Amino acid sequence: MSYLEKAKAIIVRNWRDGFSVPTSELYPFQWMWDSGFVALGTSTYNIEMSLSEIGKMFSGQWDNGMIPHIIFHSENEKTYFPNFDFWNCQVNAGAPTQPKSSGITQPAVFGFILKDILQNHWGNDEVKNFVKSIFPKLVNYHRFLYTYRDPYEEGLFFIYHPWESGRDNSPLWDASMSKIDIQPGMIPDYQRRDTSIANADERPTQDKYDRYVYLLELGKKYNYDGQQIAEESPFLIQDNMMNAILIKSNESLIEIASDLSLDAGQIKEWQQLSLSNYDKKLWNEELGMYVSYDMRHQSQMKHKEIGGIVPLFAQIPDAQKAGKINDYLTNLSDRGYYLCPSFDVDSPYFDSKRYWRGPVWPQMNWMIHKGLLSYGYKDTAETVKSDLLTLIHKLGFYEYFESQKEKVDQLSQGYGGSNFSWTASSYIHLNTVS
Ligand code: GLC
Repeated sequence: MSYLEKAKAIIVRNWRDGFSVPTSELYPFQWMWDSGFVALGTSTYNIEMSLSEIGKMFSGQWDNGMIPHIIFHSENEKTYFPNFDFWNCQVNAGAPTQPKSSGITQPAVFGFILKDILQNHWGNDEVKNFVKSIFPKLVNYHRFLYTYRDPYEEGLFFIYHPWESGRDNSPLWDASMSKIDIQPGMIPDYQRRDTSIANADERPTQDKYDRYVYLLELGKKYNYDGQQIAEESPFLIQDNMMNAILIKSNESLIEIASDLSLDAGQIKEWQQLSLSNYDKKLWNEELGMYVSYDMRHQSQMKHKEIGGIVPLFAQIPDAQKAGKINDYLTNLSDRGYYLCPSFDVDSPYFDSKRYWRGPVWPQMNWMIHKGLLSYGYKDTAETVKSDLLTLIHKLGFYEYFESQKEKVDQLSQGYGGSNFSWTASSYIHLNTVS
């Protein structure tokens, strides 16, 4: 079996009733940005699967426009914490009763994914009609972010839970999270499930998990969209990656609107504001990279990490700033790292094995590869792509991978879940379209 066939077989294995799960044991439901990346991969060979995946995700959209980070299509699956009953999203009158979901969101990937699909299926009327039907829902989702998550109308929305960032366990969140003081009785009893399925040393620590639960409870207390969340949350971050992805998706929606004669007036306004403030507020000259902003403590979060590279994908930096980011990557490659380590390899927090604290993530390489190409950095783009393919060929279709080359030589598998959907779909897309 070729690797491409293996990748497709993984998607089949993870396919449920019209959608995919990231990996069958660890994550048995539909995850938002995973599902976007799978739709991207399947669109290259089975457009029905791709549209179905997206349709299923939007079936969980809330009245306020939010697309939840998890959709619990099956209520019988009890192996995951926090499950739909713990989220109890019915506290929000606009949360659908079916399918059940979580109460937070994830990176806004669907704009650029729809654009890619439309572009590669331009002659297909079914695809055009589908995109037309999803377009207003997607605009509503972006409106949710600008309405409920941007209290000062800066065009930069906040997240109030690390799980929203997609980079759940990044050291980036450590300082804000450690300031949350959990006293007995502040959070309900709970039983986590991840450590019985994956190695504990690849997963977040217990302390951190308590704080995750605390922030979840805070969201629940304010129906997951109340303005008190911004007033009270100890964790309130304008995330560099989340906002870059939103900007990329805004741009894609503007292009889709122009292709299909739809109205993009409102999106253009959002985009202008976002673009100008992103560069002003999130660039850090000393690091030569974009950083996130801690709204609670009113300071930039000065770390070099993978979220700071993603603005290339949204073409936010000018040529000079893009050059600095490119230099950062080439330097890492020369020093014996596979691109792109998820955190600053020179930081004491760097951990090349633990979840988001240093390993390489497939879907990140997909975005960064595209970003580098758009600035003409063909060699670095090629390294980002070939490093990922090398890791997959040597270690398998895992959730994420060791980033230190000398360690990889000693390994025979990747980290986290195996037979992972976005690893398979990124592989498929990189070998077919990109
Ligand atoms: C982990 C990742 C997150 C991903 C989810 C499902 O929580 O941090 O980004 O969406 O797993 O794969």
